[in-house]
Amino acid sequence: MSGSAKRSVTITLDGSNKSSTLPLLDGTIGPQVADIRRIYGDLGIFTYDPGYGATAACESKITYIDGDQGILLYRGYPIEQLAEHSSFLEVAYLLTNGELPTPAQLRDYEMGVLRHTMLHEQLRQFYNGFRRDAHPMAVMCGVVGALSAFYHDSLDINNPEHRKISAFRLIAKMPTIAAWAHKYNSGQPFMYPRNDLGYAENFLYMFNAVPAETYKVNPILAKAMDLIMILHADHEQNASTSTVRLSGSTGANPFACIAAGIASLWGPAHGGANEAVLKMLTEIGHVRNIPEFLSEVKDKGSHTKLMGFGHRVYKNYDPRAKIIQKACHDVLGELGIKDDPLLDLALELEKIALNDKYFVDRKLYPNVDFYSGIILKAMGFPTSMFTALFAVSRTVGWISQWAEMIEDPEQRIGRPRQIYTGPTQRDYIPPGQR
Ligand code: ACO
Repeated sequence: MSGSAKRSVTITLDGSNKSSTLPLLDGTIGPQVADIRRIYGDLGIFTYDPGYGATAACESKITYIDGDQGILLYRGYPIEQLAEHSSFLEVAYLLTNGELPTPAQLRDYEMGVLRHTMLHEQLRQFYNGFRRDAHPMAVMCGVVGALSAFYHDSLDINNPEHRKISAFRLIAKMPTIAAWAHKYNSGQPFMYPRNDLGYAENFLYMFNAVPAETYKVNPILAKAMDLIMILHADHEQNASTSTVRLSGSTGANPFACIAAGIASLWGPAHGGANEAVLKMLTEIGHVRNIPEFLSEVKDKGSHTKLMGFGHRVYKNYDPRAKIIQKACHDVLGELGIKDDPLLDLALELEKIALNDKYFVDRKLYPNVDFYSGIILKAMGFPTSMFTALFAVSRTVGWISQWAEMIEDPEQRIGRPRQIYTGPTQRDYIPPGQR
């Protein structure tokens, strides 16, 4: 990041002779950013930006999104190229280390992850504390937060080696934690990880296999799983990543921070949208019901949203949605599902919405969640697992962003200000006089 020698923004306070000249900062791409840090000192005012739509909260070298053009880059590489040529663990290396690995570096990295796939045996007991019908995200929040009680040897956030081990542990254990959440739900025995399998393959194995039978993971499905994981690996300063950064800014340990990120991801406006899309499609039920549903969406009083549509940053087609839409057809083809009523309904809904003035005027396009639920359902995942799978993939982004923040010399505790609109100072009234 560099200050522009020539450009700045000057703000003048009406009715006074006070002004503040704010330097404009340049990234490598993207709009310039006004550095407002001195504005309170100069003018005695704060800035107001609920939802942070116009605020850069940090400097980052990890992921870039151009929402108008529909561009997503991980460390400069377009998501389309990574989806076609890379693997999830290679992308994980790229996001955490900054560069694509050499073959030897990738082998070492894969070994590093694989060495940590098992959970401390005592963590098994944690699952018994949940109701059998516990949502997998509730289990993940709890178990991931609890990791900090088991891995004391890697909790010094100022030690680079500890940060590295914690990152390996989180990336490696997340599939085991998620697969076991499902096994606990379904009353089947937990399957231990198999380190002879690839990352996505191992997850499918732990999720589907039972001890009574030999289970062979379908390579097409393992490839699709790997692709879905690549697409969800990072997305710059979204709500859950900002939650991880904000938690981490206090010096909290990485396991606690990622647990906070999982909680944030759970909401239907964020990662929970893939589950909500499937519920929505099921409720619409048939193509003929689409017009009625869309009228409800457009009725402000209804609070109904077209789930899987719209995005804070993308005002164009989400590039991940395009990739996943194609993968959807491939997976359904592989599974021999010729006509999937939900996919047909989704395609028709998308077509109608993309030509509807309401959505066109507001630049609302399908986001990644619009199709991810359909592909995950076809792969045999219950809807309650969708967001948990998102959390498994996004852990790579969260931990990369957390580490970047810890290493940033400008990092301070995150502490926004407010416009206070409550009562001014007043005296306590004894109970009998109220
Ligand atoms: N359906 C109907 N209307 C919508 C939708 C939608 N999905 N999304 C936005 N709008 C409307 C808003 O009501 C608003 O209309 P108005 O100008 O008449 O008031 C306008 O479009 C602008 O929307 P905002 O709410 O200001 O957009 P914001 O950036 O705050 O919200 C969000 C983005 C939360 C993603 C929103 O589009 C949404 O709720 N979408 C559905 C949930 C979803 O798919 N979430 C997944 C996001 S991607 C991810 O997390 C992986």
